[in-house]
Order: sequence, then C-alpha cells, then structure tokens
Amino acid sequence: MPSYDEKYAFLEKRVDALRTNRTGDERQTDGQVFDKKTLMTIYDFMTGGVIDSIHYPISTGKEGNVFYAENEDKEPMALKIFRTSTSTFKRVTRYIEGDPRFKGVAGNRWKMIYAWTNKEYRNLQRYSEAGIPVPEPIAFDKNCLLMEFIGNETGPAPQLKDYPMDDPTEMYDEVLSFIIDGWQDAHLVHGDLSEYNVLIQDGQPILIDCGQAMTNDFFNAKDLLARDIKNVNHFFKGKGADVIPIETVIEETIDGSKDEEEESEEE
Ligand SMILES: Nc1ncnc2c1ncn2[C@@H]1O[C@H](COP(=O)(O)OP(=O)(O)OP(=O)(O)O)[C@@H](O)[C@H]1O
Ligand SMILES: [Mg+2]
Repeated sequence: MPSYDEKYAFLEKRVDALRTNRTGDERQTDGQVFDKKTLMTIYDFMTGGVIDSIHYPISTGKEGNVFYAENEDKEPMALKIFRTSTSTFKRVTRYIEGDPRFKGVAGNRWKMIYAWTNKEYRNLQRYSEAGIPVPEPIAFDKNCLLMEFIGNETGPAPQLKDYPMDDPTEMYDEVLSFIIDGWQDAHLVHGDLSEYNVLIQDGQPILIDCGQAMTNDFFNAKDLLARDIKNVNHFFKGKGADVIPIETVIEETIDGSKDEEEESEEE
C-alpha cells in the first residue's frame, strides 16, 4: 500500500493544479478544493483507469470547481468537484432531505455532500435516458463527478448567456422542451434553469448543473417548475423571442403528463 506521500507524488505528475509553479492565491484555492479526501478519490479514479490526467479549471465557484480532464485515450471529460464546506452542506440539505431517493441521509456533512454528488449523477442519467441533452455521466465517487466534456478542441462550450443567437425563438423552444420533456419523460424538474446552466455546443443547447433537480412528485415541484419557466421566459423575452405565457407552459407541462398517465391506464 503506497504511503500518502507516494500517492501525492503520483498525483503531482497528473494533476496540473498540484505543481509548485503556482501563485499563492491559486494554491490557496486549490487547497480548498483538493483536500486530502478529494485527492485520494482522484487517486482511486486514476489507478482504476477512469481518469488519466487533470488539466485546467473550466470554472471555479463557491461550492465546487469543474476541471478539464482526460482519460487514457486522451479523450476529454469534465470533472466536477464539490467543496465539502459548511456552506455547500447548508445549501444542499433541503434538496436531499426532500428527495425520496435519498431517505436516511441526514445530518453528516460528508454523507450529505456525497449524496449530492450521487444525486447529480442520477439526475443526469435520468435526463439522458429520457432523451434530454445533458453531459453523459461517466462515474462518481465521494464528492467527485465525472461527465462528458461539453465543448471542442478550442475549449469548453459557452453558456447560453454569452452565446449570440441567430434565432432566439427557435432556441427558446428547444430550452422550453427541456422543461416540458424533463417533467413528462424524465419526471424531473430542474429547479435552477437559467442562461447560466445551458451550454451551447455546435449551436445546440445542453442542460447542465442538475444536482438540485427534483422528481416531479416533490411537494414543491410545481413552484420549481414555475420558477424555471419564469427565468427562461425572462431571458428570452429580453432577446426578442416570442415567449409563451408562464401559465400556458405550466398547463401544457402538467396536462401533457396527465394524458400520458390516462393512456397507460387504458392499456
Ligand atoms: N460537462 C461540462 N463540460 C464543459 N463545461 C462544463 C461542464 N459542466 C460544467 N461546465 C462549466 O462549469 C460551469 C459550472 O458548472 P455547474 O453549473 O455544473 O456548477 P455550479 O454548481 O453552478 O458551480 P458554480 O457554483 O461555480 O456556478 C458551467 O457554467 C460550465 O461553464
Ligand atoms: Mg451552474
């Protein structure tokens, strides 16, 4: 069994952020993300052949960072590392406690953040199986989630907010379909849908940041649905798209899934 120092030396060769030629500020941020437990999780991914190397940070946020990583075939992946901080714990708790899929996870900060990582993985799987374009989930362990990289050789895909649209109404319809099909086919409501959580790859929108998505039987699901539609309508209205009134979209979303239930009862 290699010692911690030996493992660290192994990691240093493969994780760009661990090299010493970095500024004080950068190292401080890295220290918060790459705590000992996280490093050991990454070590396991590497020795398990899932990740080969970790390169630049795509995004650094309060609750986690997303890194560009590669597998042994040098194929790109995105690695999202959740910070195991008290603030992350506080934010995610209600979403975990309200989700029947995570019964029994309570109190413990680590357990809660691990459940959160698992939850985002499962939500991505569920969206993907329902045909909604999301990054394909690849693996997860502890606070680390590995998924398909959205972008190309020149870098990560831009967020919808920074993307110059030719036809805002067409894009609006596609993003709206994430809400409607998400509810009807994946039985999920995203809960944080905005121009920040949609990436554009080859002109096509892709839904990301699915950790807080709840099943549509959650007591608060309709409020989350209304909020998602409101955010999306607000953004697209500002871009000159023909937006559909919130109430109409809500009805279509919820009534559409009723039809589906009635049909399957008749069968
Ligand atoms: N699979 C991916 N491929 C490429 N870029 C990604 C991917 N996932 C996330 N990103 C980039 O990282 C950013 C943050 O990811 P995400 O929205 O999932 O995390 P977050 O919880 O909102 O983090 P933050 O608190 O930093 O906003 C995204 O806006 C996007 O630019
Ligand atoms: Mg986000």
